[in-house]
Amino acid sequence: MNFSLTEEHLAVREAAREFAQKELKPGVIERDSKMEFPTEQVRMMGELGFLGMMVDPDYDGGGMDTLSYVLAMEEMSKVDNSCSVLMSVNNSLVCWGLETYGTEEQKRKYLPKLATGEWIGSFCLSEPEAGSDATMQRTTAVDMGDHYLLNGTKNWITNGGSSSLHLVIAQTNPELKHRGINAFIVETSWDGVTVGAKEDKLGIRSSDTHTIMYSDVKVPKENRIGEDGFGFKFAMKTLSGGRIGIAAQALGIAGGAYELALAYAQEREAFGKPIAKHQAIAFKLAQMATDIEAAKMMVYRAAWLKDQGMDYNQASAMAKLYASEVAMKHTVEAVQIHGGYGFVKEYHVERLMRDAKITQIYEGTSEVQQIVISRGVLSGQPYISMEEPVAHSH
Ligand code: CAA
Repeated sequence: MNFSLTEEHLAVREAAREFAQKELKPGVIERDSKMEFPTEQVRMMGELGFLGMMVDPDYDGGGMDTLSYVLAMEEMSKVDNSCSVLMSVNNSLVCWGLETYGTEEQKRKYLPKLATGEWIGSFCLSEPEAGSDATMQRTTAVDMGDHYLLNGTKNWITNGGSSSLHLVIAQTNPELKHRGINAFIVETSWDGVTVGAKEDKLGIRSSDTHTIMYSDVKVPKENRIGEDGFGFKFAMKTLSGGRIGIAAQALGIAGGAYELALAYAQEREAFGKPIAKHQAIAFKLAQMATDIEAAKMMVYRAAWLKDQGMDYNQASAMAKLYASEVAMKHTVEAVQIHGGYGFVKEYHVERLMRDAKITQIYEGTSEVQQIVISRGVLSGQPYISMEEPVAHSH
């Protein structure tokens, strides 16, 4: 078993850390407070290759592995989770979904734009009445011969106000239930695509989350992804990898809060010594470090399984479930360690605490992860054995 990172991994992590600290940190409090979309920061992320990290260089991507992407996500998420969720959706839902299941034509047409950040993508699955129960799609795509006619509403769409491309999941044959669902590439400039108001959220406040309406949108036949009826499986398989990105985000949030709490506890004095020297605080720091280390092992391993071409469905659900719990629990502790300073915006930890909550909700709630894990457990797969890797097939 080898736990060391390669020179390339270390370089990617360092580049992301430097970018996050230098370019994201200075304005993050203000952007969060004003719900201001990080336009300039996203432009730079595209230029530096953070928006298409795993995409093949043939399509202008970085050609990196999932672990590199996870390391970069972790560093960005220590600072600015509005930027890191955009990065996660663009890399692991939109680019990966398109690259893995798209036709050569679709990839040539769309991937270079997405991988370089010229275009941002959104993944449009959730609906007002279909969140966790994702099979209940009410958005319809009616086969009109040479095109589909798309109608419906999608909710809580990340990058909704800034994206040029949507991957839209829609029902084409209600009689077949989830087997009648398809996934489509929709350009937002097409007639009939309307962006609703930006959501005013608890956390990731500068990320632009919107409702999207489709009204008689003509989608060319060649923009369907995969065989007829592949859409639900497409969503599930893509989300399985996406969850590794959100797990990395949660890991970064917990790590960022821990770094701030550790530094503060060593500086701040009470009762004649740094508060870190009081057992009450030292033990909190010890527990944080331990839980973050455990989450890290799970997240990196899920990425490693994916990079080995092995099954990672359970591992990604476990990593997201656990890392998001650690993020929530320990951002609260980081605020507590900061005392009154933790409750004001200037010290960053209150923002990380607010951001942590969404990692337990999006790309499948913690309860949905427990459904995925428990089904694996009950089918005789308590964990994915290191000795007997299960080959993954797309
Ligand atoms: N890979 C391939 N196929 C899969 C799969 C997977 N990981 N998981 C399920 N499937 C297939 C099943 O095999 C089954 O296919 P068949 O019937 O043809 O055999 C089909 O999908 C239906 O599966 P289930 O019976 O398991 O479906 P279910 O309704 O019982 O529940 C669920 C599935 C896991 C709860 C699923 O609905 C789910 O993941 N829900 C959460 C949705 C979600 O994560 N939404 C996030 C929105 S996107 C987002 O948040 C992005 C963002 O902006 C940040």
